[in-house]
Amino acid sequence: MPAIVKFENVTKKFGKITALNDVSFEIDEGEFVFLTGQSGAGKTTLLKILIADLKPTIGNVFFAGENIAKISKNKIPKHRQQIGYVFQDYKILTERTVRENIEVALAVVGISRKDWKKRVDAVLELVGLGDRSELFPQQLSGGEIQRVSIARALVVNPKILLADEPTGNLDWETAQNIVDLLSKINKEGKTVLLATHHEGIVERLKKRTIRLRRGMIEK
Ligand SMILES: Nc1ncnc2c1ncn2[C@@H]1O[C@H](COP(=O)(O)OP(=O)(O)OP(=O)(O)O)[C@@H](O)[C@H]1O
Ligand SMILES: [Mg+2]
Repeated sequence: MPAIVKFENVTKKFGKITALNDVSFEIDEGEFVFLTGQSGAGKTTLLKILIADLKPTIGNVFFAGENIAKISKNKIPKHRQQIGYVFQDYKILTERTVRENIEVALAVVGISRKDWKKRVDAVLELVGLGDRSELFPQQLSGGEIQRVSIARALVVNPKILLADEPTGNLDWETAQNIVDLLSKINKEGKTVLLATHHEGIVERLKKRTIRLRRGMIEK
């Protein structure tokens, strides 16, 4: 399997703070990889560099063969369409139903309206919310809202799913269910990169783990 992600000696500085320090690694297509490290270790910074929300100070970042460190502004939307991103704080629209929240992602990418229902239904089925499509976020539990955000990230069929602390606000059992869902999504072929400081979750799945410590990869 070819590498879909490649970080090559990446350093990211914010003024005097070095958030990432000479980070190099690869992720192959179809892999499930944990990204761990204490608060402030640089996990979110790394993910943001991968979606071209931040530029590295030094180094190169390849995604599907393209150098994201050197990407021009007009190519960024197309790059992001290939990546599903699950945010820690959900970013769910409270005035919209579950279905409408997911449709937003399809609208952004410009997928034809006639295909929306089929795609939304399929992805809601996958995350176990087939019967919740017409509810509003305030009618859902925290775990269900996290499932909506995973469904929204997946509906455009991205090449990789990035999840930033997706179990952060959930109790242990609900957190395990979310990680099991991400594992199932990986088994169906999607590459997954899951950032978390939750060691229990990492222990449980026994997947490859990239450990950050003060911006550096632990060997
Ligand atoms: N925009 C910014 N400006 C200045 N410093 C920043 C900025 N973003 C991140 N940092 C610093 O970079 C370091 C890494 O932050 P980052 O958010 O990547 O950590 P993290 O591993 O995601 O932590 P957490 O587990 O708390 O989410 C921190 O010291 C942080 O203060
Ligand atoms: Mg973070």
